[in-house]
Amino acid sequence: MRRKLVVGNWKLNGSLAENHALLTQLLMQTRNCQATDIVVCPPYTYLFQAQQLLNGSPLFWGSQNVSQFDKGAYTASISAKMIAEFGCRYAIIGHSERRVINKETYQKSALRLENALKNGITPIYCVGETRDEKHPRLAQSVIEDQLQAVLTEIDDKTFNMAKMNNLVIAYEPVWAIGTNMNATPGQAQSMHQFIRNLVAMRDVDFAKKVRILYGGNVTPLNAKGLFSMPDIDGGLVGRCSLNASDFSEICMSACDVSESVVA
Ligand code: PGA
Repeated sequence: MRRKLVVGNWKLNGSLAENHALLTQLLMQTRNCQATDIVVCPPYTYLFQAQQLLNGSPLFWGSQNVSQFDKGAYTASISAKMIAEFGCRYAIIGHSERRVINKETYQKSALRLENALKNGITPIYCVGETRDEKHPRLAQSVIEDQLQAVLTEIDDKTFNMAKMNNLVIAYEPVWAIGTNMNATPGQAQSMHQFIRNLVAMRDVDFAKKVRILYGGNVTPLNAKGLFSMPDIDGGLVGRCSLNASDFSEICMSACDVSESVVA
């Protein structure tokens, strides 16, 4: 059985004081949530603070991106090696806001992913269709194209690293992110199953293991319904990860689902 995973993407939010309050509350409120992996992704500047507060706890922390380069003349870039020094285990890669606002392509994302893997970081690779692409057939072909860079176009060595580092895929319909609309559990499940089948075309065993998260307006109200679907292994959460009670409730939903499957 795949262990559920809930990731908080803080985006451009936080301050030393706010983060301190949020993380200490989260540690308290998720202390009974042992059946789920929980990750927070603050802005880079706060990774040191996350490390100080979360080291030795069950919570993990990660970054919201990494450079494709290790070092050099790349002003304002942060490498996977650097975030690893601050205890990061995860890095979000290819988020739609990076693709739209910063014009990052999937080919570039694949290079970032490779760099994360080389440094022992688990990439959370994001895919998703826009509102204009929201027709079942079209959406599937968009997702297939987006996954090509990390499924068909990467060499065996990198793919093996992806398997070893437990690559995570996040399905985030762009039309749902930051709105009050989300894919229904049924819609999300069918896309997650489609994604898992694509992974199986490269590696049947890995397809059974790879965790596929749903993202896009995950809230305490809809989390349990989504996480109960057989191919939805957790969530990538934006706004609701900034509120300790909301985020803890979402994590507890993942725990409840895991525990009900075991029981
Ligand atoms: P949201 O963001 O939960 O605020 O919709 C999700 C994301 O962008 O990862």
